[in-house]
Amino acid sequence: MDRFIIRGGRPLRGEIVIGGAKNAGLKLMVAGLLTAERLVLTNVPRIADIATMRDLLIQHGVAVEDVNGDGSAYAVGGEITSTEAPYDIVSKMRASILVLGPLLARCREARVSLPGGCAIGTRPVDMHLKGLEALGAEIRLENGYINARAPEGLIGERIILPFASVGATENLLMAATLAKGRTEIVNAAREPEIGDLVACLNKMGARISGSGSGTLVIDGVEALQGAEHRIMPDRIECGTYACAAGITGGDVRLVGGRLDDLGAVVRTLEEAGVEVTEDEKGLRVRRTGALRGVDIMTEPYPGFPTDMQAQFMALLSVAEGASMVTETIFENRFMHVPELNRMGARINVHGSSAIIRGVHALSGAPVMATDLRASFSLILAGLAAHGETILSRVYHLDRGYEAVERKLAACGANIERVRE
Ligand code: UD1
Repeated sequence: MDRFIIRGGRPLRGEIVIGGAKNAGLKLMVAGLLTAERLVLTNVPRIADIATMRDLLIQHGVAVEDVNGDGSAYAVGGEITSTEAPYDIVSKMRASILVLGPLLARCREARVSLPGGCAIGTRPVDMHLKGLEALGAEIRLENGYINARAPEGLIGERIILPFASVGATENLLMAATLAKGRTEIVNAAREPEIGDLVACLNKMGARISGSGSGTLVIDGVEALQGAEHRIMPDRIECGTYACAAGITGGDVRLVGGRLDDLGAVVRTLEEAGVEVTEDEKGLRVRRTGALRGVDIMTEPYPGFPTDMQAQFMALLSVAEGASMVTETIFENRFMHVPELNRMGARINVHGSSAIIRGVHALSGAPVMATDLRASFSLILAGLAAHGETILSRVYHLDRGYEAVERKLAACGANIERVRE
């Protein structure tokens, strides 16, 4: 298991190129299951979750060609020879559940392992299953697997989601593209990655409207075709490096970053004393004064993203005054708190809220990554801390961030990966 050794205290200065979005790329690869033709995706991030998704698709029998030989573009397509998504892959990556809708729509059957819980919460998939049942699927849960059939094909229906779940919206959206008639998804999630998926599906011949409005209207078509699509920039990677510039008192250009996707994050950064401006290349993030405490509540998009909560905790732990962070999306997403406290932060958790009392400085310590975003909050703390931080279990980070040590070191950070 690799570790990072970080020697903190250097303000970051320079340029970081933002990669393709993990949470868009994964779904776009799955969209390749909806057609036998080639779906070419570019700006693919080179991260472990994408490699896992590639393995899953290959396991279904479709070809996944590495177009440039360097993992930056994939062509997905071909006949599906297996409609089973096995436990060993689904348990490794929950987003695997997203093959359920497309497999059902195209092959009229699917057998997908139940994903189970994960470190940040129980994360049920009931809305995915109820929605597919509304589209006419028969679903049985047996031996830890979801067995789904739609012998006559799926049929369009009006589905009202009780909560704007990202995954349920995507699963139902993809399934509905090949259903008979019109499907409406009411209270659909509005995350920009869903907009990217809609744009790609429409290029493939789907008929979807209402992107970003909270109601998606899908008129089913007989078949989808191949297409080419460039994956949108990763707004969470961008927000994360913006926090790195903020916590170190640096000045960083985030090439490819887009203000439009980051409204709530940028507003919060500015409230905390971090300046963000946009130009034709991307974003410039800098801090000249002291950091100030702010209150944050995570919400579905366009609210403040839960995927940025851990990184802001690190930032706020060295801000003047007190901050309150309330997590409303996942029930167990404060695992970084004890680790941050070991580095000198003063954070108390009360249920779904955490009170952070800003300290003057953090001190380096051996810490352990527990999930993807939590790992980066510890890197941020390490970059700002006095002394040496040793972060273990870096594999959590490698699931979703490409070339972290290279990107940070290029801006002057003292960070080194120790391979084991
Ligand atoms: C996606 C993102 C993840 C992000 C999250 C919220 C990907 C691969 N992952 O996860 O990074 O943190 O959106 O923005 O894109 N829920 C149910 N029943 C369901 C579905 C969801 O109760 O059937 C609950 C979940 O347990 C969770 C909440 O709804 O508490 C939000 O989940 P959801 O929006 O579905 O997140 P994911 O798609 O899993």
